[in-house]
Amino acid sequence: MIAIYPGSFDPVTLGHVDIIQRGAKLFERVIVAVLRNPNKTPLFSVQQRIEQIRQATQHLPNVEVDSFDGLTVNYAQMRQAQVLLRGLRAISDFEIELSMAHTNKTLSTQIETVFLATSNEYSFLSSSVVKEIARFGGSVNHLVPPHVALDIYQCYAHKYQVSNPNKTEATLSLNNSPTELPLEIQQREV
Ligand code: PNS
Repeated sequence: MIAIYPGSFDPVTLGHVDIIQRGAKLFERVIVAVLRNPNKTPLFSVQQRIEQIRQATQHLPNVEVDSFDGLTVNYAQMRQAQVLLRGLRAISDFEIELSMAHTNKTLSTQIETVFLATSNEYSFLSSSVVKEIARFGGSVNHLVPPHVALDIYQCYAHKYQVSNPNKTEATLSLNNSPTELPLEIQQREV
């Protein structure tokens, strides 16, 4: 049975990776599908997100990473998948996810949505939380794979560099002292 794990993944977090790993044990193949959404302004391009997920899942031979646009069920049918895989963190997720699953069921009765309860340690974690922490200079090393953390620091350091050309990146932090910043940022001069 083939499962599609659709999402924005901007960026992929350890919570997503946890769902992918567990899904890969349950299904013959898991296709992680990044939505190309023209209505959102993401931090990372679709191609960057695909690369980030590929690197994070390279140890899983039955996981593929792709992008799609339009309806998820149409993409699932095109890929001959029978399942949409989603993670559930909290009751707030449940309302949205249930409504999405019901909507998808009205669009295709052939496709089932399967939910995996997010592992406890990631129950608070979302891509938005990661971006919020990084934007204010906090460390996200414990929340995303190491290569993604580097991408995030570089991205925010670049944004900072553009608006403040005369300062070091360490002062990117608004509330933290430079020593609390990730090493990559502390050490780099702009
Ligand atoms: O990671 P996200 O942003 O929570 O993922 C949401 C996603 C991509 C799964 C959802 O927005 C989606 O499936 N969009 C594609 C359009 C679609 O199929 N809509 C009908 C279902 S509500």
